[in-house]
Amino acid sequence: MATLLVTGGAGFIGSNFVHWIIEHTDASVVVLDAMTYAANEASLAGLPSDRFRLVRGSVCDADLVDSLVAEADAVVHFAAESHNDNSLEDPYPFVDTNIVGTFTLLQAIRRHGTRLHHISTDEVYGDLALDDPARFTPTTRYNPSSPYSASKASSDMLVRAWARSFGVAATISNCSNNYGPRQHVEKFIPRQITNIIDGVRPRLYGAGLNVRDWIHVDDHNAAVWTILQHGTPGETYLIGADGEMNNRDVIAMILELMGEPADAFDHVNDRPGHDLRYAIDSSKLRTELGWQPHYTSFREGLSATIDWYRGHEEWWRPMKRATEAGYARRGQ
Ligand code: NAD
Ligand code: DAU
Repeated sequence: MATLLVTGGAGFIGSNFVHWIIEHTDASVVVLDAMTYAANEASLAGLPSDRFRLVRGSVCDADLVDSLVAEADAVVHFAAESHNDNSLEDPYPFVDTNIVGTFTLLQAIRRHGTRLHHISTDEVYGDLALDDPARFTPTTRYNPSSPYSASKASSDMLVRAWARSFGVAATISNCSNNYGPRQHVEKFIPRQITNIIDGVRPRLYGAGLNVRDWIHVDDHNAAVWTILQHGTPGETYLIGADGEMNNRDVIAMILELMGEPADAFDHVNDRPGHDLRYAIDSSKLRTELGWQPHYTSFREGLSATIDWYRGHEEWWRPMKRATEAGYARRGQ
C-alpha cells in the first residue's frame, strides 16, 4: 500500500492516524483537509516531507477529490463535522460534509476503482438503556438521535449502497468514544482537563449518568489499519475496547488524577436528546482479524492524556476561549 489519501487528517483521530502510519508502516500519506475550526496544523508537525503532504480543500470539491483519489492506492475517510452539540445549533455543515462529502468521494472512488475505508461511529445505532445487557453489533438496527449521528448514518448507507450496486471495495468501521492527545477542547475529556488547568470547575451535562465506551485513539487507528489490510470489502467492523464508564465517574477520575477534590465540578444544562449509553461488541474484529486493544487501563491512558495537555498548552490555548464562549451561550 504505497500512498494513502487520508481525508480529515488534520483533526483529532486523523492526525493521530497519520503519525501512527508514518511510525508503523512504510506508506506515504496525502492529507485532504478543509482546515475547519476543528483542524490544527500543529497536529501534523514533524512529519517527514518525503512521505507526507497536506492539501487544503473540501471533500465536497469533486474535481480536487477526483485528482487526489486518482493518485492514491487507498483512501481512509475521516473527514466530518464531528461534534453533537454543534449539530444541534447548525446542522447544515453536517449534511454538507458528512453526506455530500461522502457521496463526492464515493463517486471518485467508483471511477478509479480505489480501495476505501470509511470511518464511522457507534452513534448510528442510537442508545441503550443503562440496565440493558445488550451491546451494539454489526447487525444492530440503525437508530440515530442527533443531526450529527443521522448524517453519519446516512454516509454509512451511501457506502453500503456503492459497495453493493457498483462493487466499490469499501469497508466501514463504527467506533466508540476516542480519547488521547490532539483532541479538540470542545470534547468532554479535554474540556475538563483544560478547565482544571485554567482553575475552572468541570462541567457535567445533566445528572451525568450517561455511559460512553472509551477507547484510546491509537487502538482505534491500529484497528483501522488492520481492517484496511485484512478486512473484507463490503463488511462492517465495530471497534471498541470494553471501556464503558459514566460521565460522573470520568470527571471524578480526572479530578483525582489532577489532585482536585472529588466534588469540584458543576452540573450544567443537559444536551437535548442526549444519548444515554453506548456499548460496543467488537468480537467480530477480534476473532476474524485478530485485533486487540493495547490500552487496557483507562486510568493509565487518561493519566497520559492529562500529561499531554499539561505539556502542550501552546497546542490547545488558541482554541480554548472561543470554545468556552460557545458553551457559555448554551448555559453549559
Ligand atoms: P475532528 O472534528 O477532530 O476532525 C475532523 C477533521 O475533518 C478536521 O480536521 C476538519 O477540518 C476536517 N473536515 C471537516 N469538514 C471537511 C471537509 N468538508 N473537507 C475536508 N475536511 C473536512 O473529528 P474526529 O473526532 O477526529 O473524528 C474523525 C472521524 O471519526 C469522523 O468521521 C467521526 O465521525 C469519526 N468518529 C469519531 C469518534 C470520536 O470519539 N471522536 C468516534 C468514532 C468515530
Ligand atoms: O461515540 C462516538 C462519538 O463520540 C463520536 O462519533 C463523536 O464524534 C464524538 O464527539 C463522541 O460523541 P459524544 O457526544 O459522546 O462526545 P462528547 O465529548 O461531546 O461528550 C461525551 C459525553 O460527555 C456525553 O455524554 C456528553 C457529556 N459532556 C460533554 C461535554 C463537552 C458533559 O457532560 N460535559 C461536557 O462539557
